[in-house]
Amino acid sequence: MKTVSQINNKGSQPRDSFGSKFGFIAATAGSAVGLGNIWRFPYITGENGGGAFLLIYLAFIVIIGLPVMLSELVIGRSTQRNPFGAFRKLKPGSKWFLIGIMGIAAAFMINAFYSVVAGWTLEYLVNAITNQFSGKNTGEITALFTNFQGSAWRPVFWLLVFVAVSASVVLAGVQKGIEKYTKILMPVLLVLIVILCVRSVTLPNSAEGLKFLFNPDFSKIGPSTILIALGQAFFSLSIGMGTLITYGSYMKRNENLGSSATSVVFADTLIAILAGVAIFPAVFAFGISPASGPDLVFLTLPNIFARMGGGFIFGLLFFFLLVVAALTSTISILEVVVAYFSEELKMSRKAATLLASAGIALLGILCSLSLYKVPEISIGNTNLFGVLEYVSSNILLPLGGLLIVFFVAWLFGKDKLKNELSSNGKYKIGYYAIYRFIIKFLAPLAIALVFLNGLGILTF
Ligand code: PFF
Repeated sequence: MKTVSQINNKGSQPRDSFGSKFGFIAATAGSAVGLGNIWRFPYITGENGGGAFLLIYLAFIVIIGLPVMLSELVIGRSTQRNPFGAFRKLKPGSKWFLIGIMGIAAAFMINAFYSVVAGWTLEYLVNAITNQFSGKNTGEITALFTNFQGSAWRPVFWLLVFVAVSASVVLAGVQKGIEKYTKILMPVLLVLIVILCVRSVTLPNSAEGLKFLFNPDFSKIGPSTILIALGQAFFSLSIGMGTLITYGSYMKRNENLGSSATSVVFADTLIAILAGVAIFPAVFAFGISPASGPDLVFLTLPNIFARMGGGFIFGLLFFFLLVVAALTSTISILEVVVAYFSEELKMSRKAATLLASAGIALLGILCSLSLYKVPEISIGNTNLFGVLEYVSSNILLPLGGLLIVFFVAWLFGKDKLKNELSSNGKYKIGYYAIYRFIIKFLAPLAIALVFLNGLGILTF
């Protein structure tokens, strides 16, 4: 049976929604937990001094990330629309819908470059299954990576497989696709990462790795580290481009926004820290530099799996974990575009998913080729992959985040905001005063600094 809100929704089709609070949390934590946590967070932490970076990152997650996430959910749930339609509904006749357009553009860009790396995780899962790491020395493991990148078709093939899997989940709908799969995959992911942590901390000399991750060395912290930490917090929480507006729009009216957002932020942070616990003790146990950069996952870790007892099974679990983490994130990014196409351009879900995925695949292929095979696919001196990563993470996400908190703080309406956060008085919102202070002043200021730095206007 249709609910009143479904019938009232302007389209003729009833609007899909998450079936339960756990469904929402699994899907949203699935979006947040991804390559950003398991691939990017450990190497950024490694490059920026370990524990001290971690502390700053945690402060940003709580002080800025959580309020921005809450603001997106408020916009999504109160309007029950995609990011474009949401601003149209809230401020008809104004230019605020451009935030939605920016989000949809960011979704295309992030999905394209993200799916390229996600495709690599599939190649590496197959490598792990076929026992390619064991007995190989460092040079041979590097060759595994360079041969793969040098192949004309393999990275593109895996990219297409990945986009197709992601599309098939989204095609099935919010409750029967996204929620159904993330409810299974997220607990699996947690179990896998805990198993890997246990293995890692029981390696000889593992205490060194834990010390590196948790002992703060503030001499390594400069202004740029602070900005990197905020950028990582945005990327990791999937905020600033309307993903949380979209997922929030599928949330039931009687659910508690504050506690749901807190659970998602907690899960995302926990998994990032556990990824660090799984990786650094192993890195130290085998005497490898913790600051290995983006290669950490594809070059450094296979070296460890090649030498560690049980390396075959742990390598397999690790790459399976990466695939799952990447998949639950790409489906959320795809959903942003699909929601827009189907609600605003009145396409069927099938047509919307196929069109969005075809566009993402095309852009993804260009991105993939631009990295190693055809570097001429570039803008200025930067290859397309780098351009999309830079523009989306350093410009579109912070700018989107800034405009979203500004909108909620100054234009949304105080009473409406309180009603939305408390589900019309059902829940206590003791955090309201501090939340409002943050979105009015602190968050816009902090985000503006990152944004200006990202643009190169303000350099530290
Ligand atoms: N949060 C994801 C990660 O950490 O890997 C990446 C991401 C997903 C960014 C969804 C933005 C987004 F909308």
